[in-house]
Amino acid sequence: MVLIAQITDTHILADQEAEMREVKTWHSLEKVLAEVKKHQPAALIFTGDIAHEGEKEAYLNFLELANATQISSCWLPGNHDNLEVMSKQLSSEFVSAKKVLKVGKWQILLLNSCFSDAKYGEGIISQEQLDWLNHQLAENEKKDSLFTAIALHHHPVSTGIDWLEQMSVLNASDFHEIINQYPQVKTVFFGHIHHEINVIHNNIQFLGTPATCTQVKPAKHEITAAEIQAWQQPGFRLLELQDDGKLITEVKRIPWFS
Ligand SMILES: [Fe+2]
Repeated sequence: MVLIAQITDTHILADQEAEMREVKTWHSLEKVLAEVKKHQPAALIFTGDIAHEGEKEAYLNFLELANATQISSCWLPGNHDNLEVMSKQLSSEFVSAKKVLKVGKWQILLLNSCFSDAKYGEGIISQEQLDWLNHQLAENEKKDSLFTAIALHHHPVSTGIDWLEQMSVLNASDFHEIINQYPQVKTVFFGHIHHEINVIHNNIQFLGTPATCTQVKPAKHEITAAEIQAWQQPGFRLLELQDDGKLITEVKRIPWFS
């Protein structure tokens, strides 16, 4: 078994004290990472919107916290990121831009779903990325037969929230067509939606994960005082990748502003 953690939508700003929607995102990430570290995951996967506005200083602020964990981590970009700037900054002894991570009996493939002409923050998986994914899965099937988890920023499944639908992966059907051909693919996890979802399509588990800062109210959620508090809290996801291809996953919350 290998334990990894998904951390997403950190929205770090150029000033460590600055706020996004009344949350000091750098401090919020610091608290989330302190909690993550207690679980001793083998690797961290950051699934985009690392910076809110894509400045160099924001990535350096992020790097300071990521390095302090002393845990190996990989990242992929979100719609708020500047890929050129982050590619230059986000590399260190602990932080890597690699897009294939092999852990135990599993591989994790990291995709770029950013769409430069997006109107609402919607995503696209380019033909180049689809071809790369198909190639990685086909090669794996021939050689290693590793169980596979795929990470990306945008959601390739419905969240049940109308305004988020227009921000999903526009060509999600192309993505599903590829992954459905490979039974080794067990899970797809993503950020972007700033709340938790967990749905199964064609035996693949699709997992949306809360941001480390501000959240979106989940669909069809009964509003009680306690529940408001639970879904508003910053969070992250633990994924226990078992040797037989099974997956145990759980979202953890940090009640730092309660
Ligand atoms: Fe985000």
